[in-house]
Amino acid sequence: MKTMTNTPVQQAGERRPAPGTLLSVPDLTIEAGSKELSVRLVDRFSLDMAPGDRVALVGESGSGKSVTARAIMRVDPDFRLSGSIDFQGQNLLKLSEKDMVSVRGHKIGMVFLDPMGALNPLMTIGEQVMEPLRIAGVKRAEAERRAKAVLEELVVVNAAARMKAYPHEFSGGMRQRVVLAMALISNPSLIIADGPTTALDVRVQEQVPHPDGQDVKGTGSGRAPDHPRPRHSGRLAQLPHPAV
Ligand SMILES: Nc1ncnc2c1ncn2[C@@H]1O[C@H](COP(=O)(O)OP(=O)(O)O)[C@@H](O)[C@H]1O
Ligand SMILES: [Mg+2]
Repeated sequence: MKTMTNTPVQQAGERRPAPGTLLSVPDLTIEAGSKELSVRLVDRFSLDMAPGDRVALVGESGSGKSVTARAIMRVDPDFRLSGSIDFQGQNLLKLSEKDMVSVRGHKIGMVFLDPMGALNPLMTIGEQVMEPLRIAGVKRAEAERRAKAVLEELVVVNAAARMKAYPHEFSGGMRQRVVLAMALISNPSLIIADGPTTALDVRVQEQVPHPDGQDVKGTGSGRAPDHPRPRHSGRLAQLPHPAV
């Protein structure tokens, strides 16, 4: 069995989440492959986040940053996970897939690296931004109003009309804003972003405002996890490159 030795470094987590902890991951191990030929992708990863915390996972390429983010969301059924992922007092590893659906995209927003891959080419932008709310049972008119508002916050000009467009009609930066809107619309408690600024040029990063009215300043390096986050949320971002 191959064991990864370069698991992203985090401070060792408390065994028992302290009161007010948003996300506590003690000793998460992630394995893939068959029982006979198992590969340990992440070895005893620990993390603790309180509401409002921002955490960046730093590690060389292939050290398991993306795998860790995907494991927390349980989006890869082939991974074997041991340990626990305590989110708002619930161990996500114990939830059924049906219950996980109400966490993913609602309580935890996700932003993945490739905005085109995250968008359905056959659905309008508006339908996709509204989708998390519609799944949660929000009425169409209200979902439309909130989708327009969140797109406007992300500086999508003429948002009502652009909601009728399809992803191929949007530029890369605009698609990234749509993916951010999808992550933000449910006002999640935690946002997990994998390489959130990689697809954004610095100008777009600088234009994207915080929902609380502050401007997000791009660093110019494209490495910092600069993207909006709702108030009182935690944020788990991954740097796309090893930190220097
Ligand atoms: N579904 C999978 N099955 C087996 N190995 C995988 C799978 N997904 C990723 N890996 C491997 O896990 C390791 C960590 O990958 P990843 O998390 O993408 O690294 P990074 O830190 O660059 O984001 C890599 O060796 C990658 O090839
Ligand atoms: Mg990665």
